[in-house]
Amino acid sequence: MRIGFFDSGIGGLSVLRHAMQHVAATEFLYVADSAHAPYGDQPAEWVKDRSLSIARYLERQGVDALVIACNTATALAAGAIREAVNIPVIAMEPAIKPAVAQTRTGRVAVLATATTLASSRYRDLCRRYAAEVELFEYAPHHWVAQIEQGVHLEPGYASALEEELSAIRQQGVDTWVLACTHFPFIRAQLASVVGPAVNIIDPAPAVSAQLARRLPAIARVQDAVRVNLMTSGDLVRVSEQAGRFLGMGLKAEPFS
Ligand code: DGL
Repeated sequence: MRIGFFDSGIGGLSVLRHAMQHVAATEFLYVADSAHAPYGDQPAEWVKDRSLSIARYLERQGVDALVIACNTATALAAGAIREAVNIPVIAMEPAIKPAVAQTRTGRVAVLATATTLASSRYRDLCRRYAAEVELFEYAPHHWVAQIEQGVHLEPGYASALEEELSAIRQQGVDTWVLACTHFPFIRAQLASVVGPAVNIIDPAPAVSAQLARRLPAIARVQDAVRVNLMTSGDLVRVSEQAGRFLGMGLKAEPFS
């Protein structure tokens, strides 16, 4: 069983990391399109074409299923990808429904790119599930670039976040939705800023569960899995970032 993943960069590794522990597969292929991150800063039509061509590439590699591990690519290209490939496609969905179920204050923050927040997919979810809660939407594009460059690992990053998020924190928000796959990389820093009483929802478990449902039943999750990492970005940096995040040695191959 081989499963393909892609993202504008390393963000989708937050979904891959969970899938590696919960979905049976012998090989995961991951394309980090880091030379073009953030997708949120690229023209919509370009992101759609680029996402389509990465999805087709992964299908040609013989993957049994494809995970669009990027909310922005999902918003702009999921429909086109589903029409173009003949394998199960699992896409991201902002965790509005679980957030509404969990909030006690009725105040939920959503962190995503502006493209995701403007998408009809996201607006439909809000209409369907969030009519009774107050949503505080924030699109910190710069976090994507910072995470790609490793800036989030520098000391003092959490204090910068604290200042940046203070206006939303003062609103009595008790549930934060991470609707960009890069943001689980700074989950620890976010948790230290918002405090232990606040929920932070990472959609990776829901995506893994959906992926497992779409695959043929396999006896158990493999003990040893192979990750085949490819990137259009800096090979050394992406290898280091991915290796540190997944807790394994990785050497990225070039992807153009
Ligand atoms: N990981 C992407 C997402 O989930 C990052 C956004 C971007 O590249 O703009 O939306």
